[in-house]
Amino acid sequence: MITRFRGQVTLDGPSGTGKSSVARDVAARLGAAYLDTGAMYRAATVAVLDAGVDLTDPEAVARAVSDAVIEIGTAADAEVVTVDGIDVAVRIRGAEVTRTVSPVSAVPAVRRQLVDRQRSLVAAADAVVVEGRDIGTVVLPDATVKIYLTAAPEARAQRRAGQLGVTDPHKIDEIAADLRRRDEYDSSRTDSPLRPAADAVVVDSTGLDRDAVVDRVLALALSAVGEPA
Ligand code: DC
Repeated sequence: MITRFRGQVTLDGPSGTGKSSVARDVAARLGAAYLDTGAMYRAATVAVLDAGVDLTDPEAVARAVSDAVIEIGTAADAEVVTVDGIDVAVRIRGAEVTRTVSPVSAVPAVRRQLVDRQRSLVAAADAVVVEGRDIGTVVLPDATVKIYLTAAPEARAQRRAGQLGVTDPHKIDEIAADLRRRDEYDSSRTDSPLRPAADAVVVDSTGLDRDAVVDRVLALALSAVGEPA
């Protein structure tokens, strides 16, 4: 295990690029903590759904999130996500949450709460890999190294289909359309839109396997702290 790295690696980008598995692997290889901020927005969405509030009422949505106790683990090898003490690690990946997370995460008062939590979790770690959409731009503008991971839309749809076990070409088209819809929503929202930070290194994972992307990110992280890869 490499333990020389001290600092923050931010990994932003759209869904379907292999970002989560790359972030976990990089964290494990660096001996660093790992924070999945998407899981935090998904857990907040569970709180909103369970509170039964009107999704078009930003105040009610933000109140449902602040009333809930959301816990998120920062170990690279174990996913811990709870809402009011209930394990929601599986539920947050389901269709209902995936459908609802974009409007919840577009509410500025929700983002403020979660960004505060993200910064304190990061401050508690000597070394950490943080994945999301706005980590390099908003959450940690002074991060040690910033990566923006992207991939061609077809490659992203194929990867997502593989994860879901889908082979029907029509279903893959639907997945591609859903990815485009979420990208469009996440990139065009007013608060913290999805975009690369000016000082981020853009890594295109199209045609690269997971290990190649992990090696590239590790090399960038180590060179940022003056260590050979
Ligand atoms: O990475 P993911 O698919 O689990 O993220 C779920 C949603 O949360 C995604 O549609 C956008 C939102 N999100 C965000 O707005 N900001 C972040 N830092 C992370 C995720």
